[in-house]
Amino acid sequence: MNQVSARSSGRRTTPPRLRAALASIATGLVAVGTTVVLAASASAGTTLGAAAAETGRYFGTAVAVNRLSDSVYVGILNREFTSVTAENEMKWDATEPSPNQFTYASGDKLVSHAEAYGMRVRGHALAWHQQQPRWTAVLSGTALRNAMLNHVTQVATHYRGRIDAWNVVNEAFADGGSGGRRDSNLQRTGDDWIEAAFRAARAADPGAKLCYNDYNTDGQNPKSNGVYAMVRDFRARGVPIDCVGFQSHFTAQSPVPADYQANLQRFVDLGVEVQITELDIEGSGSSQADSYSRVVRACLAISRCTGITVSGIRDTDSWRSSATPLLFDGNGTRKPAYASTLDALNAGGTTVPPTTPPPTTPPPTTTPPPTTTPPPTTTPPPTTTPPPTTTPPPGDGDCATSVSLNSWSGGFVATVKVTAGPAGLDGWVVNLTLPSDATVTAVWSAQSTGTAGAVSFRSVSYNSAVGAGAGTEFGFQGTGSGPTGTATCARA
Ligand code: XIL
Repeated sequence: MNQVSARSSGRRTTPPRLRAALASIATGLVAVGTTVVLAASASAGTTLGAAAAETGRYFGTAVAVNRLSDSVYVGILNREFTSVTAENEMKWDATEPSPNQFTYASGDKLVSHAEAYGMRVRGHALAWHQQQPRWTAVLSGTALRNAMLNHVTQVATHYRGRIDAWNVVNEAFADGGSGGRRDSNLQRTGDDWIEAAFRAARAADPGAKLCYNDYNTDGQNPKSNGVYAMVRDFRARGVPIDCVGFQSHFTAQSPVPADYQANLQRFVDLGVEVQITELDIEGSGSSQADSYSRVVRACLAISRCTGITVSGIRDTDSWRSSATPLLFDGNGTRKPAYASTLDALNAGGTTVPPTTPPPTTPPPTTTPPPTTTPPPTTTPPPTTTPPPTTTPPPGDGDCATSVSLNSWSGGFVATVKVTAGPAGLDGWVVNLTLPSDATVTAVWSAQSTGTAGAVSFRSVSYNSAVGAGAGTEFGFQGTGSGPTGTATCARA
C-alpha cells in the first residue's frame, strides 16, 4: 500500500484556500511573536477542508440550496468545506418536472456558489428509483428507458465540465440477502439500465468521474457483494465507471462495520476510486466522535479513497435530525465529533495520487458542447440505438471491432467494441483513420497514440485479457466528425 505520510511526501500544489489558511496562521504567529513551537504545526489544517486537502482529499457536505440565505449555515459552509453535493436540487423530480422541460435554477445556484469558493461539486443523482417526477409513473419499457437516458444526457450535458463526480445511479441494489437488484420501474426496463445510464453520462460529460452510489454497502454483505460483482463486470467489459460512493448512514443498530476499511479496499482493488458520500452517524458525545474518527481513518488509509462528504452541516439541517448525526449542533457550534474528525484528518494517512488513472485519462483538454440540442424524450438518445458504423473486419481471426457513434454538429463520442476470436486475447490494439477535420480530445479504457489521422488504441491493464468470443469496450471523444471507415483489430 502506498502508505506515504502526508507530512513528508512531495505533494500536489497547495490549494489556494489552504495556502490562504496557512498564510493567515503564519501571520498570526508573527503577530503573537512568542509561539514558535506552534510553527511546527502550521501545516495542520484548522478546518475540515484544509486538513483533508493536506492529504489530497476533499471534505464535503450536502447542501440545501434554500439554506444559502442563512448566514450561520453559509458561514460554516464556506469556512469548512471544499466540496458540495446538492441535497435535492439535482434529482430527477427537481430538474425535469415535466417531460423534456428542464429546470436548473437551484442546481445552478449551488454550482455557482461552489465555483465562487473553489469547491468541487458532486452531482446527485442522475438515475434513481426515488424522487422521480410524477410523469415517469405512467412510463415503462422502452419509453421509460429512453426518458431516463434523455434525462441523464441532458442533465450531464448541462453541467458538463463543472462536476467533479456524478452519482450516475443511486441505490439500485436490494437490501437483504439476495445480493441482487432492487425492483423498480428502472430495473424493469432491463438489467442493462445501469450500464446504459453510465454510457450516456460518459458521452455527455467525459470529464466527470462516474460513480455508483448506495447505502448498506459499507461492510462486506450480500448487498455490497452484489455491487462489487457489478463493478467488476463493468470494469472487465469497459463500461465507463470510475468510482463507488458509500453513503455511510450509521445508527446504533447499524454502526460502522468492523470491515469498513477492508470493504473500501476491495472496491479500490477493482480499479475504481471510492468516496464516502452521505456520512452521518446517529449519537452524541465521545461514542459519536469515535465513530467519525474511525470512518475518517479508514478513508485516509486508502490512497484512492479520495473524499468524504457529510450529509449536512448542523444537526438541525439533517434529513434525520432527531438522530443528531452531524458535526455541528443546531447553533452551528462544533461538536466532539467535529474535533475527532479534524484530528483524524490532521493525523494524515495516504496521499491521494495527483493524477486520476484510467479510464478518464487523459482528461479532455477541450470539452466541446454539442451545438445541436440533445434529442427530446420522444426520440431515443443516440446512445440507445448505436448503429455499428463498421462491420467487423475479417482480420486474421484474433479479434473484431464494431464502432458505434454518438455525434453532433462539431463533435462525437465513439464507443468501440473489441470481440476476441477463438483464441482469446492477452492484449489488443485497434487502428483507425479519422476524417481530416477530426481530433481526439479524450479517451477512456484504452491508451491512445495520435489524435488525428491514423490513430491507435491499445488495451490497458484491466481490459487486455479477453476470453474467446468475449468482448470489451473502450471509447473516445473528439471534435469534428467521427470515424466512418473500418477499424482494424490485432493482438498486441
Ligand atoms: C434525502 C434528503 O436529505 C431529504 O431532504 C429528502 O427529503 C429525501 O432525500 N439517500 C440519498 C439522499 O441518496 O439523496 C437522500 O436525501 C437520503 C438517502
